[in-house]
Amino acid sequence: MTELGSAGRFLVEYTADLGSRLGHRPLAYVHSYGCQQNVSDGERIMGQLAAVGYGFTKEPSEASLILLNTCAVRENAEDRVFGNLGGFKKLKEKDPGLLIGICGCMAQQEHIAEKIKESYRYVDLVFGTFAGGDLYSMLRKVIEDKERVFNLSEKPSDIDGDFVQLRESSFRAYVPIMYGCNNFCTYCIVPYVRGRERSRSPESVISEVRKLVADGYKEITLLGQNVNSYSYGFPALLRSVNEIEGDFRIRFMSSHPKDASDELIDAILGCEKVCKQLHLPLQAGSDRILKAMNRSYTVERYLGIVDKIRSRAPEFSLTTDIIVGFPGETYEEFCMTKDIIRRVKYDNIYSFVYSRRTGTPAAKLEDKISDKQKGLWLRELLLEQRETSSEWLARFVGRTARVLVEGEGRTSPEHLTGKNDEGIIVEFVGGRELIGQFVDVKITKAMNWALSGELII
Ligand code: 5AD
Ligand code: SF4
Repeated sequence: MTELGSAGRFLVEYTADLGSRLGHRPLAYVHSYGCQQNVSDGERIMGQLAAVGYGFTKEPSEASLILLNTCAVRENAEDRVFGNLGGFKKLKEKDPGLLIGICGCMAQQEHIAEKIKESYRYVDLVFGTFAGGDLYSMLRKVIEDKERVFNLSEKPSDIDGDFVQLRESSFRAYVPIMYGCNNFCTYCIVPYVRGRERSRSPESVISEVRKLVADGYKEITLLGQNVNSYSYGFPALLRSVNEIEGDFRIRFMSSHPKDASDELIDAILGCEKVCKQLHLPLQAGSDRILKAMNRSYTVERYLGIVDKIRSRAPEFSLTTDIIVGFPGETYEEFCMTKDIIRRVKYDNIYSFVYSRRTGTPAAKLEDKISDKQKGLWLRELLLEQRETSSEWLARFVGRTARVLVEGEGRTSPEHLTGKNDEGIIVEFVGGRELIGQFVDVKITKAMNWALSGELII
Protein backbone atom coordinates (compact mmCIF):
# COMPACT_ATOMS: atom_id res chain seq x y z
CA MET A 1 0.00 0.00 0.00
CA THR A 2 1.20 3.49 -0.76
CA GLU A 3 0.87 5.73 2.31
CA LEU A 4 -0.80 8.92 1.16
CA GLY A 5 0.75 11.08 3.89
CA SER A 6 -0.20 14.72 4.33
CA ALA A 7 0.83 15.70 0.78
CA GLY A 8 -1.26 12.85 -0.64
CA ARG A 9 -4.28 13.90 1.43
CA PHE A 10 -3.80 17.47 0.24
CA LEU A 11 -3.95 16.18 -3.36
CA VAL A 12 -7.09 14.14 -2.67
CA GLU A 13 -8.79 17.37 -1.57
CA TYR A 14 -7.31 19.30 -4.48
CA THR A 15 -8.56 16.81 -7.11
CA ALA A 16 -12.00 16.61 -5.44
CA ASP A 17 -12.28 20.39 -5.49
CA LEU A 18 -11.03 20.67 -9.07
CA GLY A 19 -13.36 17.83 -10.08
CA SER A 20 -16.42 19.59 -8.71
CA ARG A 21 -15.50 22.72 -10.66
CA LEU A 22 -14.90 20.72 -13.87
CA GLY A 23 -17.95 18.51 -13.43
CA HIS A 24 -15.78 15.37 -13.80
CA ARG A 25 -12.70 13.75 -12.34
CA PRO A 26 -9.58 15.78 -13.28
CA LEU A 27 -7.62 13.98 -15.96
CA ALA A 28 -3.89 13.39 -16.29
CA TYR A 29 -2.03 12.84 -19.55
CA VAL A 30 1.03 10.71 -18.76
CA HIS A 31 3.21 9.69 -21.69
CA SER A 32 6.24 7.41 -21.33
CA TYR A 33 8.89 7.39 -24.03
CA GLY A 34 11.63 4.82 -24.56
CA CYS A 35 12.31 1.46 -22.97
CA GLN A 36 10.17 -0.93 -20.91
CA GLN A 37 11.85 0.23 -17.71
CA ASN A 38 10.53 3.70 -18.38
CA VAL A 39 7.06 2.39 -19.20
CA SER A 40 7.15 0.58 -15.86
CA ASP A 41 8.18 3.78 -14.02
CA GLY A 42 5.27 5.54 -15.78
CA GLU A 43 2.85 2.86 -14.54
CA ARG A 44 3.99 3.52 -10.99
CA ILE A 45 3.50 7.26 -11.42
CA MET A 46 0.02 6.66 -12.84
CA GLY A 47 -0.77 4.42 -9.85
CA GLN A 48 0.19 7.25 -7.52
CA LEU A 49 -1.96 9.75 -9.44
CA ALA A 50 -4.96 7.41 -9.53
CA ALA A 51 -4.67 6.96 -5.74
CA VAL A 52 -5.24 10.72 -5.19
CA GLY A 53 -8.19 10.99 -7.56
CA TYR A 54 -6.89 11.54 -11.09
CA GLY A 55 -8.42 9.84 -14.12
CA PHE A 56 -6.45 9.52 -17.36
CA THR A 57 -6.71 10.72 -20.93
CA LYS A 58 -4.74 10.17 -24.11
CA GLU A 59 -5.61 13.69 -25.24
CA PRO A 60 -3.38 16.46 -23.76
CA SER A 61 -6.04 19.13 -24.38
CA GLU A 62 -8.41 17.35 -21.94
CA ALA A 63 -5.82 17.14 -19.18
CA SER A 64 -5.42 19.11 -15.95
CA LEU A 65 -1.99 17.54 -15.49
CA ILE A 66 0.50 16.70 -18.25
CA LEU A 67 3.51 14.58 -17.40
CA LEU A 68 6.09 13.48 -19.96
CA ASN A 69 8.20 10.57 -18.71
CA THR A 70 11.21 10.94 -20.96
CA CYS A 71 14.08 8.91 -22.47
CA ALA A 72 17.65 10.15 -22.95
CA VAL A 73 19.27 7.26 -24.75
CA ARG A 74 19.37 8.99 -28.14
CA GLU A 75 19.09 12.57 -29.27
CA ASN A 76 15.95 12.10 -31.39
CA ALA A 77 14.03 10.96 -28.28
CA GLU A 78 14.95 14.27 -26.62
CA ASP A 79 14.07 16.29 -29.72
CA ARG A 80 10.62 14.75 -29.76
CA VAL A 81 10.00 15.80 -26.16
CA PHE A 82 11.01 19.40 -26.84
CA GLY A 83 8.79 19.33 -29.95
CA ASN A 84 5.78 18.14 -27.96
CA LEU A 85 6.48 20.60 -25.15
CA GLY A 86 6.21 23.50 -27.60
CA GLY A 87 2.61 22.47 -28.33
CA PHE A 88 1.67 22.57 -24.64
CA LYS A 89 2.43 26.30 -24.30
CA LYS A 90 -0.91 27.18 -25.92
CA LEU A 91 -2.76 24.81 -23.60
CA LYS A 92 -1.22 26.54 -20.59
CA GLU A 93 -2.21 29.96 -21.94
CA LYS A 94 -5.82 28.76 -22.26
CA ASP A 95 -5.81 27.13 -18.81
CA PRO A 96 -3.24 28.67 -16.44
CA GLY A 97 -4.20 26.05 -13.82
CA LEU A 98 -2.84 23.28 -16.08
CA LEU A 99 0.16 21.57 -14.46
CA ILE A 100 2.98 20.52 -16.77
CA GLY A 101 5.81 18.23 -15.70
CA ILE A 102 8.80 16.49 -17.28
CA CYS A 103 10.34 13.47 -15.58
CA GLY A 104 12.53 10.44 -16.29
CA CYS A 105 15.98 10.01 -17.82
CA MET A 106 16.12 13.21 -19.83
CA ALA A 107 15.02 15.29 -16.85
CA GLN A 108 17.80 13.80 -14.70
CA GLN A 109 20.42 15.64 -16.79
CA GLU A 110 21.43 19.00 -15.46
CA HIS A 111 21.83 20.73 -18.82
CA ILE A 112 18.30 19.68 -19.78
CA ALA A 113 16.81 20.88 -16.48
CA GLU A 114 18.62 24.20 -17.01
CA LYS A 115 17.24 24.52 -20.53
CA ILE A 116 13.69 23.91 -19.28
CA LYS A 117 14.20 26.37 -16.42
CA GLU A 118 15.28 29.12 -18.81
CA SER A 119 13.40 28.47 -22.03
CA TYR A 120 10.23 26.57 -21.07
CA ARG A 121 8.90 28.71 -18.25
CA TYR A 122 5.44 27.18 -18.42
CA VAL A 123 6.83 23.85 -17.19
CA ASP A 124 6.00 23.58 -13.46
CA LEU A 125 7.76 20.40 -12.44
CA VAL A 126 10.99 18.65 -13.45
CA PHE A 127 12.16 15.50 -11.71
CA GLY A 128 14.55 12.70 -12.58
CA THR A 129 14.54 8.93 -12.18
CA PHE A 130 15.07 8.86 -8.40
CA ALA A 131 12.42 11.31 -7.19
CA GLY A 132 9.19 9.60 -8.32
CA GLY A 133 8.47 8.51 -4.74
CA ASP A 134 8.20 12.19 -3.76
CA LEU A 135 5.59 12.95 -6.41
CA TYR A 136 2.93 14.05 -3.92
CA SER A 137 5.09 16.53 -2.06
CA MET A 138 6.45 17.95 -5.32
CA LEU A 139 2.93 18.46 -6.71
CA ARG A 140 1.80 20.00 -3.43
CA LYS A 141 4.66 22.48 -3.59
CA VAL A 142 3.73 23.45 -7.16
CA ILE A 143 0.03 23.84 -6.33
CA GLU A 144 0.16 25.32 -2.81
CA ASP A 145 3.30 27.46 -2.99
CA LYS A 146 2.96 28.22 -6.71
CA GLU A 147 6.65 27.41 -7.11
CA ARG A 148 8.37 25.66 -9.96
CA VAL A 149 9.98 22.46 -8.65
CA PHE A 150 13.25 20.99 -9.96
CA ASN A 151 14.24 17.74 -8.26
CA LEU A 152 17.37 16.06 -9.61
CA SER A 153 18.03 14.09 -6.43
CA GLU A 154 20.25 11.03 -6.81
CA LYS A 155 19.19 9.45 -3.54
CA PRO A 156 18.15 5.85 -4.21
CA SER A 157 14.52 5.37 -3.25
CA ASP A 158 12.67 2.35 -1.89
CA ILE A 159 12.50 -0.35 -4.57
CA ASP A 160 11.06 -3.20 -2.53
CA GLY A 161 7.77 -1.61 -1.51
CA ASP A 162 4.38 -2.88 -2.60
CA PHE A 163 3.60 -0.09 -5.06
CA VAL A 164 0.26 0.76 -6.56
CA GLN A 165 0.65 0.58 -10.32
CA LEU A 166 -1.73 1.35 -13.11
CA ARG A 167 -0.65 -1.09 -15.78
CA GLU A 168 -1.25 -0.45 -19.45
CA SER A 169 -2.17 -4.06 -20.14
CA SER A 170 -4.39 -6.44 -18.19
CA PHE A 171 -2.45 -9.51 -19.35
CA ARG A 172 1.19 -8.50 -19.96
CA ALA A 173 3.22 -7.00 -17.12
CA TYR A 174 6.70 -5.57 -16.68
CA VAL A 175 8.37 -6.36 -13.38
CA PRO A 176 11.65 -4.50 -12.71
CA ILE A 177 14.11 -6.69 -10.81
CA MET A 178 16.88 -4.11 -10.70
CA TYR A 179 17.49 -0.47 -11.40
CA GLY A 180 20.53 1.38 -12.74
CA CYS A 181 23.67 0.19 -14.52
CA ASN A 182 27.33 -0.15 -13.55
CA ASN A 183 28.73 -0.94 -16.98
CA PHE A 184 29.55 2.49 -18.36
CA CYS A 185 29.57 1.57 -22.03
CA THR A 186 31.29 4.64 -23.42
CA TYR A 187 28.37 5.76 -25.64
CA CYS A 188 25.62 5.30 -23.05
CA ILE A 189 23.92 7.86 -20.83
CA VAL A 190 22.02 5.29 -18.73
CA PRO A 191 24.54 4.90 -15.85
CA TYR A 192 24.56 8.70 -15.45
CA VAL A 193 20.79 9.14 -15.38
CA ARG A 194 19.76 5.93 -13.60
CA GLY A 195 22.68 5.58 -11.20
CA ARG A 196 24.36 2.46 -9.84
CA GLU A 197 22.78 -0.99 -9.86
CA ARG A 198 20.26 -1.76 -7.15
CA SER A 199 18.54 -5.14 -7.01
CA ARG A 200 15.09 -5.79 -5.61
CA SER A 201 14.86 -8.66 -3.16
CA PRO A 202 13.75 -11.98 -4.66
CA GLU A 203 10.89 -12.05 -2.13
CA SER A 204 9.47 -8.77 -3.38
CA VAL A 205 9.83 -9.81 -7.06
CA ILE A 206 8.21 -13.20 -6.44
CA SER A 207 5.37 -11.73 -4.42
CA GLU A 208 4.63 -9.22 -7.22
CA VAL A 209 4.64 -11.96 -9.87
CA ARG A 210 2.38 -14.16 -7.71
CA LYS A 211 -0.17 -11.37 -7.44
CA LEU A 212 -0.02 -10.66 -11.17
CA VAL A 213 -0.58 -14.31 -12.03
CA ALA A 214 -3.50 -14.48 -9.57
CA ASP A 215 -4.94 -11.41 -11.34
CA GLY A 216 -4.83 -13.28 -14.66
CA TYR A 217 -1.60 -11.91 -16.16
CA LYS A 218 -0.27 -14.25 -18.84
CA GLU A 219 3.15 -12.78 -19.61
CA ILE A 220 5.67 -11.47 -17.10
CA THR A 221 8.74 -9.63 -18.36
CA LEU A 222 11.51 -9.25 -15.78
CA LEU A 223 13.43 -6.04 -16.39
CA GLY A 224 16.96 -4.86 -15.71
CA GLN A 225 19.70 -3.10 -17.72
CA ASN A 226 21.74 -6.23 -17.15
CA VAL A 227 19.85 -9.03 -15.44
CA ASN A 228 23.08 -11.07 -15.25
CA SER A 229 24.34 -8.83 -12.49
CA TYR A 230 21.19 -9.20 -10.35
CA SER A 231 22.77 -9.37 -6.89
CA TYR A 232 20.81 -12.35 -5.61
CA GLY A 233 21.56 -14.49 -8.69
CA PHE A 234 19.44 -14.27 -11.80
CA PRO A 235 19.28 -17.98 -12.77
CA ALA A 236 17.98 -18.76 -9.27
CA LEU A 237 15.36 -16.01 -9.57
CA LEU A 238 14.23 -17.40 -12.93
CA ARG A 239 13.81 -20.84 -11.36
CA SER A 240 11.79 -19.44 -8.45
CA VAL A 241 9.49 -17.44 -10.72
CA ASN A 242 9.10 -20.51 -12.92
CA GLU A 243 7.84 -22.46 -9.89
CA ILE A 244 4.89 -20.11 -9.37
CA GLU A 245 1.80 -22.02 -10.35
CA GLY A 246 -0.36 -20.76 -13.19
CA ASP A 247 -0.71 -20.48 -16.95
CA PHE A 248 1.78 -17.76 -17.81
CA ARG A 249 5.11 -17.26 -19.53
CA ILE A 250 8.26 -15.48 -18.48
CA ARG A 251 10.47 -13.18 -20.53
CA PHE A 252 13.35 -11.01 -19.43
CA MET A 253 15.72 -8.36 -20.74
CA SER A 254 18.53 -7.39 -21.14
CA SER A 255 21.39 -9.78 -20.73
CA HIS A 256 24.94 -8.43 -21.10
CA PRO A 257 27.14 -10.87 -23.09
CA LYS A 258 30.11 -10.25 -20.79
CA ASP A 259 28.49 -12.34 -18.06
CA ALA A 260 25.90 -14.52 -19.77
CA SER A 261 26.74 -17.73 -17.91
CA ASP A 262 26.17 -21.45 -18.41
CA GLU A 263 23.83 -21.34 -15.39
CA LEU A 264 21.72 -18.77 -17.24
CA ILE A 265 21.49 -21.01 -20.31
CA ASP A 266 20.66 -24.02 -18.10
CA ALA A 267 17.89 -22.05 -16.37
CA ILE A 268 16.34 -20.83 -19.65
CA LEU A 269 16.39 -24.29 -21.20
CA GLY A 270 15.30 -26.04 -17.99
CA CYS A 271 12.33 -23.84 -17.00
CA GLU A 272 9.19 -24.62 -18.98
CA LYS A 273 7.60 -21.18 -18.48
CA VAL A 274 10.70 -19.26 -19.57
CA CYS A 275 10.51 -18.36 -23.27
CA LYS A 276 13.22 -19.89 -25.42
CA GLN A 277 14.51 -16.54 -26.47
CA LEU A 278 17.43 -14.33 -25.50
CA HIS A 279 18.07 -10.66 -26.17
CA LEU A 280 21.86 -10.49 -26.34
CA PRO A 281 23.01 -7.00 -27.33
CA LEU A 282 26.03 -7.22 -29.65
CA GLN A 283 26.40 -3.46 -30.38
CA ALA A 284 29.33 -3.92 -32.81
CA GLY A 285 31.03 -6.70 -34.71
CA SER A 286 34.72 -5.79 -34.38
CA ASP A 287 36.92 -6.21 -31.32
CA ARG A 288 38.44 -2.75 -31.78
CA ILE A 289 35.05 -1.01 -31.59
CA LEU A 290 33.81 -3.28 -28.78
CA LYS A 291 36.88 -2.25 -26.80
CA ALA A 292 36.31 1.43 -27.54
CA MET A 293 32.72 0.93 -26.37
CA ASN A 294 33.97 -0.69 -23.11
CA ARG A 295 31.78 -3.72 -23.72
CA SER A 296 34.22 -6.15 -21.98
CA TYR A 297 33.79 -9.03 -24.43
CA THR A 298 35.26 -10.01 -27.77
CA VAL A 299 33.48 -11.20 -30.89
CA GLU A 300 34.88 -14.67 -30.16
CA ARG A 301 33.38 -14.70 -26.66
CA TYR A 302 30.02 -13.48 -27.99
CA LEU A 303 29.91 -16.15 -30.68
CA GLY A 304 30.97 -18.71 -28.07
CA ILE A 305 27.78 -17.98 -26.10
CA VAL A 306 25.68 -18.20 -29.25
CA ASP A 307 27.26 -21.56 -30.19
CA LYS A 308 26.78 -22.91 -26.68
CA ILE A 309 23.06 -22.13 -26.79
CA ARG A 310 22.53 -23.33 -30.33
CA SER A 311 24.44 -26.58 -29.75
CA ARG A 312 21.77 -27.44 -27.17
CA ALA A 313 18.79 -25.78 -28.88
CA PRO A 314 19.63 -25.35 -32.59
CA GLU A 315 16.64 -23.13 -33.38
CA PHE A 316 16.87 -20.99 -30.27
CA SER A 317 15.65 -17.44 -30.89
CA LEU A 318 18.11 -14.59 -30.49
CA THR A 319 17.61 -10.86 -30.85
CA THR A 320 20.14 -8.06 -30.51
CA ASP A 321 20.93 -4.35 -30.40
CA ILE A 322 23.38 -2.80 -32.85
CA ILE A 323 24.90 0.67 -32.93
CA VAL A 324 25.98 1.85 -36.38
CA GLY A 325 28.70 4.46 -36.73
CA PHE A 326 30.34 4.60 -33.29
CA PRO A 327 33.05 7.32 -33.50
CA GLY A 328 35.97 6.01 -35.54
CA GLU A 329 34.14 2.95 -36.89
CA THR A 330 35.27 2.27 -40.45
CA TYR A 331 33.18 0.80 -43.23
CA GLU A 332 35.22 -2.42 -42.98
CA GLU A 333 34.43 -2.65 -39.27
CA PHE A 334 30.76 -1.99 -39.96
CA CYS A 335 30.83 -4.86 -42.49
CA MET A 336 32.06 -7.15 -39.70
CA THR A 337 28.80 -6.42 -37.87
CA LYS A 338 26.90 -7.45 -41.01
CA ASP A 339 28.91 -10.68 -41.13
CA ILE A 340 27.86 -11.52 -37.58
CA ILE A 341 24.21 -10.88 -38.40
CA ARG A 342 24.49 -13.41 -41.22
CA ARG A 343 26.38 -15.87 -39.02
CA VAL A 344 24.18 -15.71 -35.89
CA LYS A 345 20.76 -15.44 -37.60
CA TYR A 346 18.69 -13.20 -35.36
CA ASP A 347 14.91 -13.20 -35.36
CA ASN A 348 15.00 -9.46 -34.87
CA ILE A 349 17.55 -6.69 -34.45
CA TYR A 350 17.12 -3.25 -32.91
CA SER A 351 19.61 -1.04 -34.70
CA PHE A 352 20.43 2.59 -34.14
CA VAL A 353 22.72 5.21 -35.60
CA TYR A 354 25.18 6.28 -32.89
CA SER A 355 23.93 9.33 -31.05
CA ARG A 356 26.35 11.60 -29.20
CA ARG A 357 25.35 11.93 -25.53
CA THR A 358 26.77 14.85 -23.55
CA GLY A 359 28.77 13.68 -20.54
CA THR A 360 29.70 10.22 -21.90
CA PRO A 361 33.34 9.38 -22.75
CA ALA A 362 32.52 8.68 -26.42
CA ALA A 363 31.14 12.21 -26.82
CA LYS A 364 34.76 13.47 -26.78
CA LEU A 365 35.92 11.18 -29.59
CA GLU A 366 36.48 12.44 -33.08
CA ASP A 367 33.71 11.40 -35.43
CA LYS A 368 34.45 11.78 -39.13
CA ILE A 369 31.53 9.93 -40.70
CA SER A 370 28.44 12.04 -41.38
CA ASP A 371 25.01 11.09 -40.03
CA LYS A 372 23.84 10.81 -43.63
CA GLN A 373 26.51 8.21 -44.35
CA LYS A 374 25.68 6.35 -41.15
CA GLY A 375 22.02 6.35 -42.21
CA LEU A 376 23.07 4.55 -45.40
CA TRP A 377 25.02 1.98 -43.40
CA LEU A 378 21.97 1.42 -41.22
CA ARG A 379 19.87 0.75 -44.32
CA GLU A 380 22.46 -1.72 -45.52
CA LEU A 381 22.34 -3.46 -42.16
CA LEU A 382 18.56 -3.67 -42.20
CA LEU A 383 18.60 -5.16 -45.71
CA GLU A 384 21.03 -7.79 -44.51
CA GLN A 385 18.80 -8.55 -41.53
CA ARG A 386 15.67 -8.71 -43.67
CA GLU A 387 17.25 -11.26 -45.97
CA THR A 388 18.61 -13.37 -43.13
CA SER A 389 15.47 -13.28 -41.00
CA SER A 390 13.01 -14.10 -43.79
CA GLU A 391 14.95 -17.33 -44.37
CA TRP A 392 15.43 -18.01 -40.67
CA LEU A 393 11.78 -17.37 -39.71
CA ALA A 394 10.73 -20.02 -42.25
CA ARG A 395 11.67 -22.66 -39.64
CA PHE A 396 8.29 -22.02 -38.01
CA VAL A 397 6.19 -22.71 -41.14
CA GLY A 398 4.07 -25.84 -40.80
CA ARG A 399 4.39 -25.86 -37.00
CA THR A 400 1.89 -24.92 -34.33
CA ALA A 401 2.72 -21.86 -32.25
CA ARG A 402 1.31 -20.92 -28.88
CA VAL A 403 0.40 -17.26 -29.25
CA LEU A 404 -0.61 -14.73 -26.61
CA VAL A 405 -3.09 -12.53 -28.46
CA GLU A 406 -2.24 -8.85 -27.96
CA GLY A 407 -4.74 -6.94 -30.11
CA GLU A 408 -5.99 -6.14 -33.58
CA GLY A 409 -3.60 -6.98 -36.42
CA ARG A 410 -2.18 -4.75 -39.13
CA THR A 411 -3.06 -7.01 -42.06
CA SER A 412 -6.86 -6.41 -42.07
CA PRO A 413 -9.67 -5.58 -39.62
CA GLU A 414 -10.35 -9.32 -39.18
CA HIS A 415 -6.77 -10.04 -38.16
CA LEU A 416 -5.41 -10.36 -34.67
CA THR A 417 -1.79 -9.99 -33.64
CA GLY A 418 0.14 -11.69 -30.89
CA LYS A 419 3.54 -13.20 -30.15
CA ASN A 420 4.73 -16.78 -30.06
CA ASP A 421 6.96 -18.12 -27.27
CA GLU A 422 10.00 -16.84 -29.15
CA GLY A 423 8.59 -13.31 -29.12
CA ILE A 424 7.90 -13.20 -32.86
CA ILE A 425 4.80 -11.40 -34.13
CA VAL A 426 2.11 -13.75 -35.44
CA GLU A 427 -0.94 -12.50 -37.37
CA PHE A 428 -4.07 -14.57 -37.99
CA VAL A 429 -7.83 -14.21 -38.42
CA GLY A 430 -9.83 -14.41 -35.20
CA GLY A 431 -12.37 -12.72 -32.94
CA ARG A 432 -11.51 -9.87 -30.57
CA GLU A 433 -12.69 -11.91 -27.58
CA LEU A 434 -9.39 -13.82 -27.87
CA ILE A 435 -7.33 -10.77 -26.91
CA GLY A 436 -5.44 -11.56 -23.70
CA GLN A 437 -5.67 -15.35 -24.20
CA PHE A 438 -3.25 -18.02 -25.32
CA VAL A 439 -4.30 -19.66 -28.61
CA ASP A 440 -2.72 -22.21 -30.95
CA VAL A 441 -1.93 -21.01 -34.45
CA LYS A 442 -0.75 -23.15 -37.34
CA ILE A 443 1.99 -21.11 -39.04
CA THR A 444 1.51 -20.94 -42.81
CA LYS A 445 3.81 -18.14 -43.90
CA ALA A 446 6.98 -16.36 -42.83
CA MET A 447 7.55 -12.74 -43.74
CA ASN A 448 10.76 -10.90 -42.97
CA TRP A 449 9.50 -9.42 -39.70
CA ALA A 450 6.60 -11.67 -38.69
CA LEU A 451 4.67 -14.88 -39.19
CA SER A 452 1.11 -15.49 -40.30
CA GLY A 453 -1.10 -18.50 -39.80
CA GLU A 454 -4.48 -20.02 -39.05
CA LEU A 455 -6.17 -20.28 -35.69
CA ILE A 456 -6.59 -23.86 -34.50
CA ILE A 457 -9.93 -24.20 -32.76
N1 5AD B 1 23.52 5.97 -29.55
C1 5AD B 1 22.84 5.00 -30.21
N2 5AD B 1 22.30 3.94 -29.61
C2 5AD B 1 22.46 3.83 -28.27
N3 5AD B 1 22.06 2.89 -27.39
C3 5AD B 1 22.46 3.25 -26.16
N4 5AD B 1 23.14 4.42 -26.21
C4 5AD B 1 23.15 4.80 -27.51
C5 5AD B 1 23.70 5.90 -28.22
N5 5AD B 1 24.37 6.87 -27.58
C6 5AD B 1 21.37 1.67 -27.81
C7 5AD B 1 22.18 0.42 -27.45
C8 5AD B 1 21.40 -0.15 -26.31
C9 5AD B 1 19.99 0.26 -26.66
C10 5AD B 1 19.03 0.21 -25.54
O1 5AD B 1 20.13 1.58 -27.13
O2 5AD B 1 22.16 -0.44 -28.57
O3 5AD B 1 21.54 -1.56 -26.20
FE1 SF4 C 1 24.02 1.44 -21.35
FE2 SF4 C 1 25.87 -0.49 -21.47
FE3 SF4 C 1 24.42 -0.14 -19.20
FE4 SF4 C 1 23.23 -1.13 -21.42
S1 SF4 C 1 24.93 -2.11 -20.25
S2 SF4 C 1 22.44 0.51 -20.06
S3 SF4 C 1 24.29 -0.04 -23.05
S4 SF4 C 1 25.91 1.31 -20.08
